[in-house]
Amino acid sequence: MTIQVGDKMPVGTLKVMGAEGPEEVSTAHLFTGKKVVMFAVPGAFTPGCSVTHLPGFVVNADVIKAKGVDEIICLAVNDAFVMDAWGKAQNAEAIIMAGDGSADYTKSLGLELDLTAAGMGVRSKRYAMIIDDGEVTYLGVDAKGIEQSAAEAVLVQL
Ligand code: BEZ
Repeated sequence: MTIQVGDKMPVGTLKVMGAEGPEEVSTAHLFTGKKVVMFAVPGAFTPGCSVTHLPGFVVNADVIKAKGVDEIICLAVNDAFVMDAWGKAQNAEAIIMAGDGSADYTKSLGLELDLTAAGMGVRSKRYAMIIDDGEVTYLGVDAKGIEQSAAEAVLVQL
């Protein structure tokens, strides 16, 4: 079952690069008492994600945060090393680059995407969410293209 607007985010953990290596970060730490924009991509360094999706949030990060957003999280079914390298390559210092390497959290959201036929295994659908103190207030999922999950679409909802 896919998470819906009005639902609470499931409990889980993501991996974020720390000073000593990948660190486990709980969803309670990420979402409790905060307004968060989280967007997810099928893969770090893939063309659509690198040319359009992540750069849109990098360029608009200040505007998004000025609308009361505490954190912007970019999530992918990749490991924390890859997410860290991708964030550095994209100057995404304003964005938390989070890895869900085994897709456990993505599956708990019901937003997994089977790209086995493309040699990529289980990944995440492309989506963006606004999460207010752990509750989903916006969910835009894109089956094709980058529209409802784009930074501009999120900005309209803030
Ligand atoms: C992309 O360009 O974003 C992409 C490429 C292959 C699979 C999924 C996404």
